[in-house]
Amino acid sequence: MCSGGCAKCLGITLIPLAVLCTLANILLFFPGGKVASSNEHITDEVWYFGGILGSGALMIFPALVFLGLKNNDCCGCCGNESCGKRFAMFTSIIFAAVGFLGAGYCFIVSAVALNKGPKCETNNQWEYPFANGDYLGNNTMWNMCKSPADIVPWNLTLFSLLLIMSGIQAVLCAIQVVNGLIGTICGDCSCCGCCGGNGAI
Ligand SMILES: *[C@@H]1O[C@H](CO)[C@@H](O)[C@H](O)[C@H]1NC(C)=O
Repeated sequence: MCSGGCAKCLGITLIPLAVLCTLANILLFFPGGKVASSNEHITDEVWYFGGILGSGALMIFPALVFLGLKNNDCCGCCGNESCGKRFAMFTSIIFAAVGFLGAGYCFIVSAVALNKGPKCETNNQWEYPFANGDYLGNNTMWNMCKSPADIVPWNLTLFSLLLIMSGIQAVLCAIQVVNGLIGTICGDCSCCGCCGGNGAI
């Protein structure tokens, strides 16, 4: 296994996920697809920026580091084939851990938001009408939200997407932690043996 090549495909996958998570979080600021008349009307968990910061901004650094791994993996620093590679793989562990924490943050915020349900207007009062995810299996209850229109399916869809995408990001980063450990310990020698700069698969 060439860990540099692995890291590259992890990086390529992380970038669209980070963009989609950021987008989902931005859409959540528009309850039911409309501009909210007051910031007070937006569900609290949206303000935790799970998708924008955790799965978005924090994920860009690990993704770029993973993408760069393949290029600097074989030729090393100072003509020493394995030291540059080992150092790069070691650095990637730190970035993978950062990415894991960011994705984990988004995952937890989304899970809490799904369980708690959206903030909406019931009888002339803005509140959280649901508790402990009871609305998830009973869409008769969704009528308790008078406005914004479609707030329940809107938040449900977007937070579910955030939950799934941040879960994938967390798994990918965890893979890179293991991958980076292997690369650091064995220096991925099989790759350097075939190195013309592109021998890795
Ligand atoms: C769904 O919620 C409504 C309104 O609260 C309630 O009357 C009904 O019994 C619930 N249905 C189920 C299957 O729990």
